[in-house]
Parts: sequence; C-alpha cells; structure tokens
Amino acid sequence: MSDLKLNYEVDGGDLVQAGEASSKMKMTLKKLGLPPEVIRRASICMYEGEINMVIHADGGEVEVDVGMDTITIRLTDHGPGIPDVDQAMEEGFSTAGDVARDLGFGAGMGLPNMKRCSDDMQIDTQVGVGTTVTMKIHIN
Ligand SMILES: Nc1ncnc2c1ncn2[C@@H]1O[C@H](COP(=O)(O)OP(=O)(O)O)[C@@H](O)[C@H]1O
Ligand SMILES: [Mg+2]
Repeated sequence: MSDLKLNYEVDGGDLVQAGEASSKMKMTLKKLGLPPEVIRRASICMYEGEINMVIHADGGEVEVDVGMDTITIRLTDHGPGIPDVDQAMEEGFSTAGDVARDLGFGAGMGLPNMKRCSDDMQIDTQVGVGTTVTMKIHIN
C-alpha cells in the first residue's frame, strides 16, 4: 500500500488560527486508527513546528507522510532561518517578541519538545533563506 500524504498551508502572523493544521492532522490520524500515543507525539511535534512557523517565519507549509512504520512530518518555511541551531535547541531560549509573549507563546520549549516527542529530528536552515524541520515518529 502506498503512503498517505497530507499537505497543509500555515498562514503567517495569525496567532489566533495557529494550531489549525495540527488539529486537522490529529483528526485524520484518529480516523486512521493509529495508536493514541503515536497520535499524541505526532500532534505535539506538528503543533510546535506550526507555531514556530507562525511566530518566527511568517508561515509555511507542512507535508505529512503516513507510512506503514513511520510518520514523517516536514515543515518548510522561507523565514529568516536559525543562525545558531544549538542555541535554539536549548530549553528556554526564545527570540519571540512581545506580541507572541502576551499571547502565552515564547517559552522556548518548542524545539526541545519536538526533539523529545520524535524518534528523529533534523533541522536544515540557512539565514535569509528559510528553515526545514523534518521529524519522524515510529508507529510500532
Ligand atoms: N521556523 C523558524 N524560523 C526561524 N527561527 C526559528 C524557527 N523555529 C524556531 N526558531 C528559533 O528558535 C528559537 C527557539 O524555538 P522554540 O524552542 O520553539 O521556542 P519559542 O518558539 O518559544 O521561541 C525561537 O525563539 C527562534 O529564535
Ligand atoms: Mg516555539
């Protein structure tokens, strides 16, 4: 059987709508009958990645590939890029501005959570060009 591919657009600058794509993915994964723990982890990964694209990169797109053994989530944006990935991965590090902070974002826990909830995470980023985050979650 071929993999199921899901695609989502994420609008930039809309912190009220942020999280919509991950909610949609979660519903689809539930309909597929995947294990709740797998759905929970995939949803956290995608939610945090989606929020990052909204806050830090003016939106982007998400491709989700649901295979027999693995869910692959790839978030691509054309934002500012991440100058120091090691620093960005530190718990509590955030460059979020006041507007995002006033809405409760910017705790600096998104990337660490994505790392923890995925089995594999890769960040490809170039300053001034954009960022692609690829995460894999094993199904069994
Ligand atoms: N898609 C992205 N584009 C540019 N910078 C990003 C992106 N995702 C994360 N970052 C950078 O990494 C930092 C840490 O991200 P994260 O752990 O999610 O914390 P937070 O989003 O709360 O700031 C962000 O503050 C930002 O500087
Ligand atoms: Mg974040």
